[in-house]
Amino acid sequence: MNSLNGTATTIETEVTDTTAPKTKVKKVRLPELFIDGGSSHTKYYLDKISGSYQSVAREFPKGYDLPTGYLGVFAIGEKGYAVGDSALSLSGGKLHEGYADDNKIKLLPTWIIGALTTHPSFLFKWMKKVKTGTVEITIKLSLLSLSSHRKKEIEKAIKDITFTFDEREFKINISEYALYPEGYGAACAAKKVLKSNGCKDARFHILDLGGGTLTHTPYSNLNGVPRASNQNSVSGAGVMSITEFFAKESAKGDTGGNIYHFSRLKEALETSHIVDDQYSANIILGDTERDLGDRLQSGLESWAREIIGVRELLRDIKQLIRKGERVFLTGGGFKVEAVRHFVLSYLGNSELVTVLDNPQDVNITGIKS
Ligand SMILES: Nc1ncnc2c1ncn2[C@@H]1O[C@H](COP(=O)(O)OP(=O)(O)OP(=O)(O)O)[C@@H](O)[C@H]1O
Ligand SMILES: [Mg+2]
Repeated sequence: MNSLNGTATTIETEVTDTTAPKTKVKKVRLPELFIDGGSSHTKYYLDKISGSYQSVAREFPKGYDLPTGYLGVFAIGEKGYAVGDSALSLSGGKLHEGYADDNKIKLLPTWIIGALTTHPSFLFKWMKKVKTGTVEITIKLSLLSLSSHRKKEIEKAIKDITFTFDEREFKINISEYALYPEGYGAACAAKKVLKSNGCKDARFHILDLGGGTLTHTPYSNLNGVPRASNQNSVSGAGVMSITEFFAKESAKGDTGGNIYHFSRLKEALETSHIVDDQYSANIILGDTERDLGDRLQSGLESWAREIIGVRELLRDIKQLIRKGERVFLTGGGFKVEAVRHFVLSYLGNSELVTVLDNPQDVNITGIKS
């Protein structure tokens, strides 16, 4: 069984307990793995723990001597793989990025195994339980941000998930899977906010600013279950593009001979803040620091003006707010203080706009609320 754009249900599977003197039917709750494979970060939720790793995977050639005991390092057949920080710190092989080459689907088993092997306790708990041989685990899988048009490819990708981690063999059986729209966890969290404000069956909007994409999804909160309709995504309009506009502004005029490296500018953006209504973004240059807050402000203005999709989308949202509809902001982009401040003021600082708590991971954690 699988469900599309469905609600998160707790499935109870009936398992026969053969060790009991009489045949007893014991209810076992299957572990449920939620994965949001974003272009910037792969987020997961399993066993009441959420985690994330940068959406990069390194594929090592056959015979490569893999280090053992590293989180996110595993082998599929004879080939070694590493995800997230481990992929970045190891060298050799080929580095794949989540947003490129249709890798969200092509490397789906790698992202799933990446989530399981970076989880701090799940596999270790099973390794203790199954002392020898292959550790076989049956789970439920919920995938966010993958199109239901690709069902056949998804099913093929999750059919056979076997790997070696920490010198043990694992086989993951997926008993069923569900596909949810991007930002579904945020919609569940928004529903909770609406409920606590005494609103019922309301229409609301989710605006998700990720690493690569800006997405608007209208939702109807039907009988307490959020239902998405006509999602509007602007690819290439996420935090990465804001950083590019910031970099372009920073390079203008006399930089005093300083070269601003892209990664430093990204850090300056991510740690930016607002002081007395002024933008502040400090970049570290050797022993000194420079505040590029004014450049960041003009970069944000260019982002909202020059990318037509962003401009149109933000205008649509303004119009919806004028009509009295509620908008909830989510995605890692809204964790960045300057970005949050810019978008909130662009939308007129309306009380109908709410930044969800922990916007960087509520898309996945909210699903349980
Ligand atoms: N704690 C944090 N502090 C500052 N910035 C953060 C934080 N967490 C995330 N971000 C920013 O959010 C971005 C990633 O957001 P998110 O995880 O929502 O993207 P994604 O889902 O991977 O991308 P997409 O939805 O576009 O595929 C990062 O590039 C980073 O700039
Ligand atoms: Mg995302």
